[in-house]
Amino acid sequence: MSFKNQIDLTKLPEHIAIIMDGNGRWAKDHNKPRVYGHKHGVVSVRNIVEGAGEIGLKHLTLYAFSTENWNRPKLEVTALMQLLVNTISKEVDTLHKNGVKLTTIGDLNSLPNNCSKELERASELTKNNKGLNLILALSYSAKWEILQAVKTIANDVTEKSLNIYEINESVFASYLETKDIPDPELLIRTSGEHRISNFLLWQIAYSELYFTNKLWPDYRKEDLFEAIVNYQKRERRFGLTSDQLSN
Ligand code: IPE
Ligand code: IPE
Ligand code: MG
Repeated sequence: MSFKNQIDLTKLPEHIAIIMDGNGRWAKDHNKPRVYGHKHGVVSVRNIVEGAGEIGLKHLTLYAFSTENWNRPKLEVTALMQLLVNTISKEVDTLHKNGVKLTTIGDLNSLPNNCSKELERASELTKNNKGLNLILALSYSAKWEILQAVKTIANDVTEKSLNIYEINESVFASYLETKDIPDPELLIRTSGEHRISNFLLWQIAYSELYFTNKLWPDYRKEDLFEAIVNYQKRERRFGLTSDQLSN
């Protein structure tokens, strides 16, 4: 039986986040430059977004470019930005037709102008869509996001629009980039690396982590479905005991 058929659709996570890793190693395995791996990574993105739509997932966050990735060789950064613009402009109509709403988290201001413009255009076009909410993390890092939130909170307290004693977890979360999105129940990382790399630190406090050795350009929807089946077999205890949960 395929993994897709094993998914219990009544217990689907609302939000899955993916650290798409391994493009460079995939290219190396094929004796090609790193950018070749990134290009093939786009094929995986298309396939995973399609798979997410098929099962009716509500939110999918893809870590596409981290704050730290700006320190890569200039040639690679430029190629990645160009790939981003080309991909969005090529795919936006299909996404729109399929009811996908495209949003972003991260420091859009730091992206080249043509990138941020293209992203704004795609977000504007798809903003009322009711299907999958596809969130691209671009020039994103969790520490950056948390610092931004702290600065805005400090400012609101100084201006007296926020009282210190009102600050709680949900108020804090409302200052994050992910304010209207539930925390991911499931976080997937490809390529065999077992680390978070500055992704969604606040939001993954209680996420289930799933690691696979597959490199991102080899990742396909059936792999996503496998991760969901695995997730559905886990007991999420949130600090309680097993007995408490079954009662
Ligand atoms: C992930 O693949 C894509 C980005 C971080 C932009 P990598 O480019 O990190 O590939 P590896 O980890 O070097 O194989
Ligand atoms: C994390 O991958 C960032 C993205 C997938 C966009 P990296 O390849 O940049 O992370 P490290 O350097 O292995 O931690
Ligand atoms: Mg990597």
